[in-house]
Amino acid sequence: MELYEQHRGKTSDKWTNYLPAYQAHFDPLRKTAVSVLEIGVQNGGSLEIWAKYFPEAKHILGCDIDERCRALVFDDPRVNLIVGDATSEPIRRKLIEISGPLDIVIDDGSHRSEDIVRTFSQYFPYLRDGGIYVAEDLHASYWQAYEGGVFHPYSSISFFKKLCDIINHEHWAVEANRISLLEGFRTQYGVEFDELELARIHSITFVNSVCFIKKAHPLANVLGKRVIVGIEELITKRADILSKGPSSGPSEAGNEWSRLAELPEVVASNRESEIHKLAAQLDAAQARQLAAEGALACEKNYHDGLQTVISELRLEKRDLERRLHSAQHEAAAQRARVSEIEGTQAWRYTRVLSRVKALIAGGVPRG
Ligand SMILES: C[S@@+](CC[C@H](N)C(=O)[O-])C[C@H]1O[C@@H](n2cnc3c(N)ncnc32)[C@H](O)[C@@H]1O
Repeated sequence: MELYEQHRGKTSDKWTNYLPAYQAHFDPLRKTAVSVLEIGVQNGGSLEIWAKYFPEAKHILGCDIDERCRALVFDDPRVNLIVGDATSEPIRRKLIEISGPLDIVIDDGSHRSEDIVRTFSQYFPYLRDGGIYVAEDLHASYWQAYEGGVFHPYSSISFFKKLCDIINHEHWAVEANRISLLEGFRTQYGVEFDELELARIHSITFVNSVCFIKKAHPLANVLGKRVIVGIEELITKRADILSKGPSSGPSEAGNEWSRLAELPEVVASNRESEIHKLAAQLDAAQARQLAAEGALACEKNYHDGLQTVISELRLEKRDLERRLHSAQHEAAAQRARVSEIEGTQAWRYTRVLSRVKALIAGGVPRG
């Protein structure tokens, strides 16, 4: 703690309650030739501090995605920095090539749930038995922007809580391996887990915003034999206790709370995606309905327009018929008047006189 507070080189950014927790976990390894990997370096101060804290360290390796970190220079030859995305395969290979097996991995990178889960799946296998894996700043796992929320089934804190059940796999009393408990994370983030690596999770400690996971050989992670000591048995006899058999109870296959084939978070997210699918289908159907209603409205307008044109044409036709009829009527009346005139004496004389006049004038009589 003092070492951290007295540091004067490059800056490091951690919270007060991390320091005693780090001290408690790292002190047993302090004077050993550890290889430390810190993901997320920023200004590089934490690498300088780890180099001071672990005087016998073999490697203090840092990784940061920020290209500006290339400008960081460290005096201590044990300190190395790789710039790139720690969750990518080529960067993982580069880091492990330098460090070999690791004793401490600190994930202080993006703090996004997916990255945290992926980083664990990628780097925990390179941790030696006896090593410690640390995930920092888990407060972000309660925030939506970091793929979190108190009940988020795939937040980083939900992931680490699941690892508590994995430690106790021995007692599930159902036919299911450890990986099956992480099935939702596998499908959600496309991350693979290794059954034997999960069997090496020895203990998990949570302090505010930090999770420490200790790794040990699987044989060091079983419940072991019952150990009864002492000789006075006033309440329960040793023989009665031992007659109850091993620690694991009867099969829990019928226990609805132990159905690993139907993980609640997977059922919930399947339901969620079914809801999303149905909602999308409903949206599409509503859009089609609106379009059809629009087309019907256009059709109706067109229909109404045609009705108006038809009515106007009918009126026009009626008017034309009426005008034709009256013109015919007028023509007939005119013809009747002409015949009437032609039938009179005066008209006949007038016609003869016209012909005589024409002859006298030498013209050709016309009809
Ligand atoms: C909180 S800072 C690290 C602080 C530093 N550990 C310290 O104690 O001072 C987080 C850093 O993680 C880096 N980072 C984010 N995503 C990363 C990734 N996928 N791989 C490597 N570094 C990443 C960021 O660029 C940022 O510099």
